Amino acid sequence: MKKVVIVTGASRGIGKAIASRLVAEDYAVIGFYHSKPVQIEGVDMKKVDVTDEAEIKNAIDDVVKTYGQIDVLVNNAGINVPASIQDCTLDNWNNIMRTDATSVFLMCKYSLPYLKPNEAVIVNISSRMGSPEYANPRFLPYGSAKAVVNNLTAMLSKDLKPKGIRVNAVIPAHTETDLLSGVYSDDERQVMKDKGTLGVPEDVAGLVMKVVNDPKMNGELVFDDRVFL
Ligand SMILES: NC(=O)c1ccc[n+]([C@@H]2O[C@H](COP(=O)([O-])OP(=O)(O)OC[C@H]3O[C@@H](n4cnc5c(N)ncnc54)[C@H](OP(=O)(O)O)[C@@H]3O)[C@@H](O)[C@H]2O)c1
Repeated sequence: MKKVVIVTGASRGIGKAIASRLVAEDYAVIGFYHSKPVQIEGVDMKKVDVTDEAEIKNAIDDVVKTYGQIDVLVNNAGINVPASIQDCTLDNWNNIMRTDATSVFLMCKYSLPYLKPNEAVIVNISSRMGSPEYANPRFLPYGSAKAVVNNLTAMLSKDLKPKGIRVNAVIPAHTETDLLSGVYSDDERQVMKDKGTLGVPEDVAGLVMKVVNDPKMNGELVFDDRVFL
């Protein structure tokens, strides 16, 4: 029987690459998307707003009815609207917190009863902005939400260790996606290219596979090496 994986934010960018890679690795892949329906070969796409608790709960129940269990959960969906403390509205703050952080809590909470003990893996796609050494005040709500994801990853990894369920976060390098081009100018992205720090979504999918396949990895923040260039 195929292992079953849910990938949130699977319609574009990094999530799409992760979903496609998991199909290639012979997983049964369920992809959650929000607003833009797309077809991805081999992926069972479901419209689920990850800020909506009831939608998440119903979608996970549906997945389990159809597929019986969840072996891997990839919490990837995210948004970023740059703002510093001076110009960050409460709406922006709440929207990013709900989409990037609370969604991870809800997905983990409602998947947990169906995650296979001694086998299941949770991978949270976080950001270097969530670590104090990379704090960038231009991205106040995004970095704050990703800090929550990093700490939640550490806490869950300890909590779920006795059940044999591993929890890790993958920290991509700058990656060429809609999200990136929405927050960095062409000139800024060119500098990243020139410095060799700009990656493609498939790089992140590779890191996710590394985490999923290594039974020793738990509670780790797995940085793309290029972050340090
Ligand atoms: N790109 C980078 O350089 C970079 C670096 C570090 C970390 N990351 C992280 O990587 C993850 C993916 O980012 P990306 O660059 O691939 O972004 P992207 O291309 O903008 O894709 C974002 C995905 O999230 C989904 N999404 C947004 N709001 C949602 C909601 N309320 N419910 C369900 N799905 C929702 C979108 O669905 P729709 O298409 O339906 O709107 C889309 O599939 C994010 O967590 C981001 O923070 C990215």
